[in-house]
Amino acid sequence: METLQSKHLLGIKDLTREELELIFNTADNFKEVINRPIKKVPSLRDITIANVFFENSTRTRLSFELAEKRLSADVVNFSSSGSSVKKGETLLDTVNNILSMKVDMVVMRHASPGAPHFLSRHIQANVINAGDGTHEHPTQALLDSFSIRQKLGEVAGKKVAIIGDILHSRVALSNIFALTKLGAQVMVCGPATLLPKYIKSLGVKVTLNLREALEWCDVANVLRIQLERQQVRYFPSLREYSLYYGINKKLLDSLQKPITIMHPGPINRGVELNSDVADSDHSIILEQVENGVAIRMAVLYLLASNTA
Ligand code: CP
Repeated sequence: METLQSKHLLGIKDLTREELELIFNTADNFKEVINRPIKKVPSLRDITIANVFFENSTRTRLSFELAEKRLSADVVNFSSSGSSVKKGETLLDTVNNILSMKVDMVVMRHASPGAPHFLSRHIQANVINAGDGTHEHPTQALLDSFSIRQKLGEVAGKKVAIIGDILHSRVALSNIFALTKLGAQVMVCGPATLLPKYIKSLGVKVTLNLREALEWCDVANVLRIQLERQQVRYFPSLREYSLYYGINKKLLDSLQKPITIMHPGPINRGVELNSDVADSDHSIILEQVENGVAIRMAVLYLLASNTA
């Protein structure tokens, strides 16, 4: 396989295992490139990419922009705050206006699940989902599995616990799709109120007990409590959440084996992770961020050659 089947990347659900492996193998090459003294290649020269962010972002946005610039693309950035969206302009009008400026690819983050899918049905440009509400965050899941592969040699056969606010997490859903396609076992762990009712139908194990999840897994991917998406209270207080689901060094040291700690960021330090874990040798959080650039270069490169 030399290319992806779709001209868009909307979710991991749509990808095959072979496509995931193609992205990883392509990212391996780009990782080598970005560690050279001259980090730029001409692969996307004359391609114009718009990063259209209707929701806040630090890592994804910077990482896409850097990936695009490393590939020599022309880049424009749009953020809904300070734009004419605030005057009532629709999503489609906003994007069509950007496309009139001859944009070839659109990287979009939006608070509404399905927004990039909607866009992909109405425009000619390639669309990449950079996170759509509580639905999917495909490039995050790709960089997460790529980081597990880098740390542990392969993803197949590994046990990965996804811990925390599963209900509101696009990272959880995309990770479950990616990890199960790649042959890993997945367990989700969190308070019952933050576990979706359908979760077992995705082929994952479920526990409410943090110690059980940590004793079972090789890798713990710890998620942020997404207070901005919670309209009601799902647990009594952050202090109580941290007491039952927060990971600290004492807890890790009490396990019989070392485990790898991941987090997509941004971290609520002292809530889901203590600093003595986030900044420890167990943590590959900053490697995840580094791998994000290579993964996004791979996705952009593969999609740009697929305009059908
Ligand atoms: N992991 C992630 O999506 O982070 P940002 O919201 O900062 O992009």
